[in-house]
Amino acid sequence: MTEAENRAIEEAVAKFRGLMETQLTRAKKIKEDKDFTDYDALDTIVIGICGGDGIGPVITKESERVLAFLLKDEVARGKVTFKEIDGLTIENRAACNKAIPDDVLEELKSCHVILKGPTTTPRAGDPWPNVESANVAMRKELDLFANMRPVKVPEEGIDWTFFRENTECLYAMGSQGIDIDEDLAFDFRVITTPGTERIARLAYDYARANHKDRVTIVTKANIVKTTDGKFLDICQKIGKEYPEITTDDWYIDIMTAKLVDEKRRNQFQVIVLPNLYGDILTDEAAELQGGVGTAGSANIGNHYAMFEAIHGSAPRMVQEGRDKYADPCSVIRAGAMLLSHIGYQEEADKLNRAIDACAEEKKLVLTGRSDGATGAEYADYILSKI
Ligand code: IPM
Ligand code: MG
Repeated sequence: MTEAENRAIEEAVAKFRGLMETQLTRAKKIKEDKDFTDYDALDTIVIGICGGDGIGPVITKESERVLAFLLKDEVARGKVTFKEIDGLTIENRAACNKAIPDDVLEELKSCHVILKGPTTTPRAGDPWPNVESANVAMRKELDLFANMRPVKVPEEGIDWTFFRENTECLYAMGSQGIDIDEDLAFDFRVITTPGTERIARLAYDYARANHKDRVTIVTKANIVKTTDGKFLDICQKIGKEYPEITTDDWYIDIMTAKLVDEKRRNQFQVIVLPNLYGDILTDEAAELQGGVGTAGSANIGNHYAMFEAIHGSAPRMVQEGRDKYADPCSVIRAGAMLLSHIGYQEEADKLNRAIDACAEEKKLVLTGRSDGATGAEYADYILSKI
């Protein structure tokens, strides 16, 4: 090793040490955190509405309108209130050079649940500083450890619920990798025992509560032996506490293939997997349902929960003046998940039925262009079916 290389390694080791300390502290915190928000016990449930950027504000507004309609009695009696949160735009994040500006984070933390539009994620070469994704930062800051993504294709018997771990894997330190020199770069993948236990338990509890009899664990534990090995091992251990549920496990490569295997795919029910595999597999799954624009997702933690679309902010639609034609269904579905999470299951069911009815009847269609309905017209269409 040259002297320069030795110095680079020393620096990297010191930085890695810092990252390990942070993650050890985090793992301890997870173990100690036994509290959770009881929505029934709250005097007022505060629902934060955070439009994000790109098409976010217009589609989120439509979902808010639908929620306000379904919850009007609850708002009238003071049990529910809405709070608008601005400032999570890429322009403001770039100006503050922060994934989430401090004042916005404070506002988010003053809510119990949040409905969020998509936010632009900067990458190297963009006109913005390459700050961490606002999504990822919010999931970490509010400890939203479970990303629950349902995908349904009823005519094919597909009814999947993905439980994507949301705070670990390559995402935990995705913006803290180390360049040793111009030839060598490292990123770090994190899997913790308590972090895996809590996502596994949520997936199995969900399966039990919803009379599902199979949970599928997805990893690449034959290759990524330490971290995926731990994830698989812990999930299997938790699975033993649920003897009525069959556990199987698949590797991520063959699992992506099985999702397009028409003979096998309807056998999957509940799927639990680490963050990055979950990111990829749920886009594939959503595409089978009709596109990522049709899917909503719930980011659940013990203290907060955030509900969002799984797609991006579509800046091109805004540049071309087409944002009013953007499909609001993903955020409206996310709204249904929010209703169910805070205890309004009946309203959530009503809303899901209305969305399904519109998709089936097709009196209005969304094309993303002026030959289709606007998002507002489509939301009215959904409201007319409630
Ligand atoms: C998702 C998105 C996000 C992710 C992006 C926007 C950071 O793709 O929610 O799946 O990678 O998790
Ligand atoms: Mg994704």
